[in-house]
Formats: sequence, C-alpha cells, structure tokens
Amino acid sequence: MSSYIGRHARLYDLFYADKPYAQEAEFVHSCIQQYGDGSTTRLLELACGTGNHALALEKHGYTITATDYSQDMLEQAKAKAKKTVSQVDFQWQDMRSLELPDCSFDVIICLFDSIGYVATNEALLQVLRGIHRCLRPGGLFIFEFWHAAAMLKEYDPLRIRRWTVPEGEVLRISETVLDPAKQLASVTYTIYELKTDGSYSSLNETQTNRFFLVQEMAGWLMASGFVAVNWFAGFANVEHITEDAWHIVAVARSKDTSEADTHGL
Ligand SMILES: C[S@@+](CC[C@H](N)C(=O)[O-])C[C@H]1O[C@@H](n2cnc3c(N)ncnc32)[C@H](O)[C@@H]1O
Repeated sequence: MSSYIGRHARLYDLFYADKPYAQEAEFVHSCIQQYGDGSTTRLLELACGTGNHALALEKHGYTITATDYSQDMLEQAKAKAKKTVSQVDFQWQDMRSLELPDCSFDVIICLFDSIGYVATNEALLQVLRGIHRCLRPGGLFIFEFWHAAAMLKEYDPLRIRRWTVPEGEVLRISETVLDPAKQLASVTYTIYELKTDGSYSSLNETQTNRFFLVQEMAGWLMASGFVAVNWFAGFANVEHITEDAWHIVAVARSKDTSEADTHGL
C-alpha cells in the first residue's frame, strides 16, 4: 500500500510550493561538509517524493539516487528532472526492503518526516538496519522526524488550507487523530478541486505517521549500528530542542559492522 496516490501526487508540489526546499538542501549540504569524513559524493535519498531535495542537492555536486515507493510521486520527480536536464537517478524502492545493487553510499537522507511512515518497532529496526547496510562505514544518515513533544503538546485536529489555481480553487481539509500509546498520527486528507464553472472533484487519503522523541531515536540509532552525531530543531543551526520544535533533523554516522551495537530496545 502506497501513499500520495494519483491526483494527490500531482497536487503535491502545489501544497508545498512555499516549502524552502533549496534552503533545506543547503542545510543538509552544510551538515555533510561539517560531519562527513573525506569524500562524500554518492548520496541516496529515501522517500524522495517529487524530488525537490534531490534536485536542489544535485546543484551541490552530489551523484544522487533518489527513491520512493509511490510511482505517482516518482513520475512527477522524473518529469521535473527531464525538464531541468538533471542526472538524478529516480528509482522505485520501498525503504522497508531496500534492494540496491551497490550499497556503499557516502550519505543517505530521508526528509520531511518520511521515516514516520514506518509505524512499528520491528519495521523501524528493519529500515534502519537496511540503511546501515547501504552506507559505507563512516557514512552519514541525515533524516528528519516529527517531534513527539510538539505533537502531544498542541496538535491540530482540523486544518483547512485553500489555494487559488488558474482553473479555480483547491481546498484541503486535514483531520488528525492521535494514538499516543502507539505514537501515531492518522491524518485524513479530503481534497476538493473547485472549478470556476461550478463543477468539482474530490479525493480522500488517510496517512498514518509515527512521531518520536530525541532520546528514543538515539536508542533506535544505537540499536541499528549508528552513532548520533547531532540533532537540530528543523533545518537551522538550532541545537536547543524544545517542545515547540515540530521537526527534528538528525545527523547520524554509521559505525563499522564489527563495532555495531547489538542491543535491542
Ligand atoms: C511527506 S512526503 C515527503 C516527500 C519528500 N521527501 C519531500 O520532502 O517532499 C512522504 C514520502 O514518503 C514516501 N514513503 C512513505 N513510506 C515509504 C516507504 N516505505 N518507502 C519509500 N517511500 C515511502 C511517500 O510516498 C511520500 O513520497
């Protein structure tokens, strides 16, 4: 089962048109420069969506394989890559069962809270161990996750946003239900496309995402062969993390398999 299916994938870039992807890519690049050891040129992106971070990071000189499990999102990414004559290799991959022939990436990224689609402990450990396998020793895993402290403090059960487009209007209603014990937010998107001639179409998609605490994530990283290097409140050099930080950017380094921590949680 995928997410961002069909028309929802085609509307994705409208919904996130004001997201500062280039700035975020710049921050990721600065983390790679600061924490990477030696040559870091081969980058793998997991859950790349419509490719906005990959296309921006390519400008910093990386050779990029960008993957997602939504064929519809990849179709959008590939269309943009074609227009901009990008060399990013967009591929279908489910991050829960990565199948990449050459697994010695210098950096792996997974942004915009996409790790949270992996809801269970078992699947999360599988994903992190898969990422560890795909990195060379000393390689970096840079990812962003939804912060439980912010979510539990003041999540919004109902959000409505509206966009004006040449054909009329797009209205997105997001209804969120929390399961605090499982650390899951279930978000149902109802999207209406209202045409100027009075006709409309609608779609519905529910996505379930997990949120995490920093020390919990440090434990998951430790259990899958990583050392946590630094944590930031979003894509900024802010290391003081409070419950107002909705998104945490984590930088972790892959340990050599021989020194991998084998503790379970
Ligand atoms: C919120 S979007 C983020 C997309 C992109 N990283 C961005 O910043 O715009 C989440 C993405 O995660 C992808 N995704 C969710 N679960 C996945 C999985 N198991 N394997 C690969 N991609 C996955 C979805 O298809 C979607 O493109």
